[in-house]
Amino acid sequence: MSKDVIIACDFKSGEETLAFLDRFAARERKPFVKIGMELFYAEGPEMVRKIRGLGHPIFLDLKLHDIPNTVKKAMAVLSRLDVDLCNLHAGGGRPMMEAALEGLTRPDGSRPKLIAVTMLTSTDQTVMERDLLIGRPLPEVVMHYAQTARDAGLDGVVCSPLEAGLVHERCGSGFLTVTPGIRFAENEKGDQKRVTTPADARALGSDYIVVGRPITAAADPAAAYERCIKEFLG
Ligand code: C5P
Repeated sequence: MSKDVIIACDFKSGEETLAFLDRFAARERKPFVKIGMELFYAEGPEMVRKIRGLGHPIFLDLKLHDIPNTVKKAMAVLSRLDVDLCNLHAGGGRPMMEAALEGLTRPDGSRPKLIAVTMLTSTDQTVMERDLLIGRPLPEVVMHYAQTARDAGLDGVVCSPLEAGLVHERCGSGFLTVTPGIRFAENEKGDQKRVTTPADARALGSDYIVVGRPITAAADPAAAYERCIKEFLG
């Protein structure tokens, strides 16, 4: 997989999602899309098959976190959906991540790429110390989780573009950094705190940028997508 822009399809229904994707029907290379929990739980695997059938590469963002055996079996089911990228919480530990990889690997040896969420961006130092009883500095914890994911054989992590360089330094340049928190220079930040433009994310070494509202809520989403591609891929 080479560097790309992933559109976060955070729509509440399949109907809305398909209407949005229809804007790209004439494009030869269909955009890479992210399907999250809301749409998956609302519409089920059939929606994934439909979007795949339209020719879109898919990041299935379901963030699995359970005992190794359960995650392994769930990943085996997901591997049959022919998605390109899926994820889990590194907080489930190395045995869970290794089991996930095993489950994801199809009988012919192929598998979707697997990346880890390190610490959720909604978890700050206070929540970590008070609720999780983890006393180390947050950036150190994030890097340690990334390293554990790497050691377990995963392909990358979800992180901020601002952390992409550090992750590559620690885990190798081939270890994927998939980075949300992207805004065009003139955009409102919304609920995102630390944001970067597609061009900055490129300069910082992100492998994939995940872009939601700057594209989905734009007056002309197709034009916003093309702008993102141009800024990020050059
Ligand atoms: O609309 P926006 O560009 O903020 O959407 C970003 C997408 O990336 C959303 O689907 C959001 O859930 C996801 N995400 C994020 N920050 C993380 C992990 C995932 O914004 N740390």
